[in-house]
Amino acid sequence: MLQRTLFLLLFSLAPVASSLSAEKCVLTGNWTNDLGSNMTIEAVGNKGSFNGTYYTAVSSTTKKIELSPLQGFQHPLNNRQPTFGFTVNWTFSDSTTVFVGQCFMDKEKEVLKTMWLLRLHADSIRNDWKATMIGTNTFTRLKLQE
Ligand code: BTN
Repeated sequence: MLQRTLFLLLFSLAPVASSLSAEKCVLTGNWTNDLGSNMTIEAVGNKGSFNGTYYTAVSSTTKKIELSPLQGFQHPLNNRQPTFGFTVNWTFSDSTTVFVGQCFMDKEKEVLKTMWLLRLHADSIRNDWKATMIGTNTFTRLKLQE
């Protein structure tokens, strides 16, 4: 009898468990990364395009950090864990950063795994070799203080 009840209980919970793990990773919202930078991604259009803003916690310059715009694309195929890319046009420096990554569902939580290239302004072609930095950032949803 007990066995039968347990079986029925597990059977009835199965659809709930599978619907939880089938949750889709969504880019829209507020994110923070391992450096403490914050970004906001607005609604993703039906062709995958999106706009947003980026507030970096760190900078290669001594200039005052300011909120900067970003533009990107999420892959338009209806994937549960979509790939994406975006460019940040820094308003307070003459650098540009491009990010590429994938939106993952990790234990029911959304995580953005990214790699970036930061292009600094070179005064001449002879300094081109030292003008590009590369790195990775991991983003999780920013929890607003209550
Ligand atoms: C600059 O230094 O000229 C502009 C700011 C660059 C910030 C970089 S972009 C990659 C890395 N990830 C961040 O969140 N901030 C740094």
